Amino acid sequence: MQRLIPVLNSDHVPLHLISVINTLLTAAKEISHRLHQGSLAGTLGSTLDENIQGETQKKLDIVSNQLIKTMLLETNLVHAVASEEEDDVVMGNPDARYLVAFDPLDGSSNIDINSSVGTIFSILEKPKHPAEGKELFLQTGDEQVAAGYILYGPSTMLVLTTGQGVRAYTLDHRVGEFLLTVDKLTIPEETQEFAINMSNQRFWAKPMQAYIQDLLAGTEGKRQKNFNMRWNAAMVSDVHRVLSRSGIFAYPADCRDENKPCKLRLLYEANPMSFIVEQAGGKASTGYERIMSLQPTEIHQRVSVIMGSRQEVNTCLSYYKSIECERLDG
Ligand code: F6P
Repeated sequence: MQRLIPVLNSDHVPLHLISVINTLLTAAKEISHRLHQGSLAGTLGSTLDENIQGETQKKLDIVSNQLIKTMLLETNLVHAVASEEEDDVVMGNPDARYLVAFDPLDGSSNIDINSSVGTIFSILEKPKHPAEGKELFLQTGDEQVAAGYILYGPSTMLVLTTGQGVRAYTLDHRVGEFLLTVDKLTIPEETQEFAINMSNQRFWAKPMQAYIQDLLAGTEGKRQKNFNMRWNAAMVSDVHRVLSRSGIFAYPADCRDENKPCKLRLLYEANPMSFIVEQAGGKASTGYERIMSLQPTEIHQRVSVIMGSRQEVNTCLSYYKSIECERLDG
């Protein structure tokens, strides 16, 4: 086991970027501490507010958002931040190079049941062309210079990419540091495990319905093997399982609410997770196009997500190619 050097010098990662990542980790250690204190910290439960997404804000959502935002802006290395919990971008140092988009506490409905949650971040650079406010963040996932998540589970883990593979670190509470525990994370190409919220089945488009039906048919169906299902309802922990032991994770578009066909956010969830998954050898798509190639049109945009083991994602996408039907995500 090595002591943490979040991004090794040999990776040629700029020092300021390393400092931004380290700042996120300092905030994560504090969030981890408060989560582990549970009810003792007095930060469980909901506030009376809703975020821009119309979701009830948990007290820890607010605390985590405030912590990450303030700490990042105090570094003077960040030009602007965009958070799932903020209506607008928050400007920092006009001369700084980095933009950070983050979901401070993903899967926050899990907080009150003492289950896993996570922080997701995506780091971009100020675009070369003149841009202001929200426009700064309207860059494709391919423009990300780093992305990662912190999983607050039985142990607190950091999974990080700067575009040169994926490393995983575990927080050692005794020394207060993240220690490198996996040097090169790779997702197995094939799998027998899927993660999807099955209660939405009847609302999915035909290709996803047909694909899942074939997984459920197991050895008696055309896939001729049995599949297992897992759903933690926190993207960080569901994707972490996929990264750890293979799998396919999907939150596809559905027709429950025609004004909101997709659930997951492009900038705060889909893009950073796609960067990690691709860097680990996996694949990430909306069903129709590669997630990281999408040109965002607004910062809180939502998108359909299918990601994980490369071959399994390809199999799923073959249903989208062969079954004609109207796109639910427009
Ligand atoms: O976007 C928030 C989120 O909690 C994700 O982390 C998770 O994958 C998803 O929503 C769970 O959604 P549902 O409650 O519909 O299963």
